Amino acid sequence: MRTTVGIIGAGPAGLLLARLLHRAGIDSVVLESRDRAYVEQRQRAGVLEQGTVDVLRAAGAGERMDREGLRHDGIELRFARRRHRVDFPALTGGRSVMVYAQTEVCKDLIALQLKEGGPLLFGAEALAVEGAGTDSPRVRFRREGRAGGEEDVLECEYVVGCDGSWGVARRAIPEELTRVFERTYPFGWLGILADVPPSHDELVYARHDRGFALLSMRSPVVSRLYLQVPEGTDAGTWSDVEIWDELERRFETADGWRLERGPITSKSVTPMRSHVHEPMRHGRLFLAGDAAHIVPPTGAKGLNLAVGDVVTFARALAHRKRTGSGDLLDSYSETCLRRVWQAERFSYEMTTMLHRSPDATPFEDRIQLAGLERLVSSRAAEQDLAEAYTGFSLE
Ligand code: APR
Ligand code: PHB
Repeated sequence: MRTTVGIIGAGPAGLLLARLLHRAGIDSVVLESRDRAYVEQRQRAGVLEQGTVDVLRAAGAGERMDREGLRHDGIELRFARRRHRVDFPALTGGRSVMVYAQTEVCKDLIALQLKEGGPLLFGAEALAVEGAGTDSPRVRFRREGRAGGEEDVLECEYVVGCDGSWGVARRAIPEELTRVFERTYPFGWLGILADVPPSHDELVYARHDRGFALLSMRSPVVSRLYLQVPEGTDAGTWSDVEIWDELERRFETADGWRLERGPITSKSVTPMRSHVHEPMRHGRLFLAGDAAHIVPPTGAKGLNLAVGDVVTFARALAHRKRTGSGDLLDSYSETCLRRVWQAERFSYEMTTMLHRSPDATPFEDRIQLAGLERLVSSRAAEQDLAEAYTGFSLE
């Protein structure tokens, strides 16, 4: 098999990249180790920045998002039993975000790719990227169901590793050229889906002495809620009633706000970490999305960062095809990393501002509350949050 761009991974990064390349008249092949149903059902965050919304629309993938996505003009911060709304358009000159689940973005992109785009192979596991430093890199892969685990090779001009945090692509970057920056947090998120209309029409980020809680949604009739839990918690150890009781405690306000309960249809725990792999390119191998960087979910930046990376790559390659200049490909890693570190900083700060560290001292608790008080009483501080939340420029 031969193609211009070999894409490893059919998460949001790989799928959108295939779409952008297709629109630019550049062919690609996507290799995905899992099956279609798995990719379409994997629960992740669901907040799209304005820039991401614009990219999806321009790529012809925004039709259902515009119909079913929920435009949000703000979020609520909750602490000390009080509520404070952050008004995005007023603070950012008109920007907002769209709540549209990652599962739906993937479904839309898969349907388009299968209808109009190049090959998208499910059950095709990349084993290694070879020849990254040459003009003809290759991906060795194995297709499910092939007798004896027979291997195939995809010959490419470029390879983009969109294979997520446990992928194989980044192993092809020599260790001596690599720097990894990492932080783990001593807590995780217990996330649930529940068949109940969201109790608030915007996302609620709550800081409580017992830990952080987040109210989000998947649709007008499905709620998505999270609780901060100790690192390593097994979701099965929390009963439904315990989850609702704990959510109720953490969201409680002095003005009598009520949390509606409903049947819980899914429960899982997400660990929290920050991770950046530098550089994001070696020769003709490029990393995009979670393959290169992880953010804790508090800032809802994961998918948006992946979009920024693949837009940067698609533009750079189109520029190369049009002008013969590889300048934009050469600066890919620096261009992406500037945005990545801004999102890393924001996600880290949102996490630190809202979570209760298990070893927090009373002094640190007071400082944390003072930080929140400052945020909601200073337009400048609030504007800083609103700008970062609604998104960094894709230019
Ligand atoms: N061969 C083929 N596919 C692979 C391999 C491999 N060796 N290893 C991993 N994959 C696939 C995974 O099965 C997955 O479908 O790569 C895909 C990676 O997708 P994501 O983990 O969703 O990563 P990415 O596309 O970068 O997502 C960006 O969007 O999903 C949100 O919040 C999430 O931050 C993430 C962001
Ligand atoms: C979600 O809806 O899953 C979600 C929303 C906002 C976040 C994280 C997750 O910050």
